[in-house]
Amino acid sequence: MKNILVAYFSRKGENFKVGIVEKGSAAIMKDMIIDMTGAPSYEIKTTYEYPANLMECNEQARKEHDDNVRPELAFPAPDMSEVTDLVLVYPNWWKDLPMVVYTFLDTVSGCHVNLYPVCTHEDSGLAMVERKLSTKYRNFTVKKGIAIKGTDVQIDAGKTKETLKKYLMDQSLIEK
Ligand SMILES: Cc1cc2nc3c(=O)[nH]c(=O)nc-3n(C[C@H](O)[C@H](O)[C@H](O)COP(=O)(O)O)c2cc1C
Repeated sequence: MKNILVAYFSRKGENFKVGIVEKGSAAIMKDMIIDMTGAPSYEIKTTYEYPANLMECNEQARKEHDDNVRPELAFPAPDMSEVTDLVLVYPNWWKDLPMVVYTFLDTVSGCHVNLYPVCTHEDSGLAMVERKLSTKYRNFTVKKGIAIKGTDVQIDAGKTKETLKKYLMDQSLIEK
């Protein structure tokens, strides 16, 4: 019996090509996945806000990435004791995960779960995240991920939902 948790990080504000958005692309994808799976969600969030200005955010994120920091989680980590399948929804930042997503994964790294990377990006795709995560987190069984462009998410909800539905079916997270 699968017990799914959807963990997500997203940021609103100015972003590449889409201008200023009220709801980030990963948050939109997370809501679609919740609708389709009925799973609960956990927001991966820093204790501080990232700048709405894209260049400022980019610079802050680059520094955090270069310094390999682990920003503190704003919310207590979720109860993972019953979770079998962890869907991780996040934006590609600097061809990697936002660093607070590593904080979250470090925190739950003792759990034996199937991990599904669901990434939004602008050009870099998944950037071989599956290999990186399976090397780093030995308890996770890292499954094939999916990457969807943020521009597509913001302008075409129907297509995004279809793409996610097919992915969830292929991973047996929802019924065909
Ligand atoms: C700080 C920062 C760094 C980014 N780095 C990359 C990158 O290296 N490769 C890429 O394809 N997209 C990159 N992007 C674009 C985002 O992955 C993309 O716009 C995504 O859809 C944003 O999701 P969100 O709206 O949920 O935050 C970056 C965006 C930000 C804000």
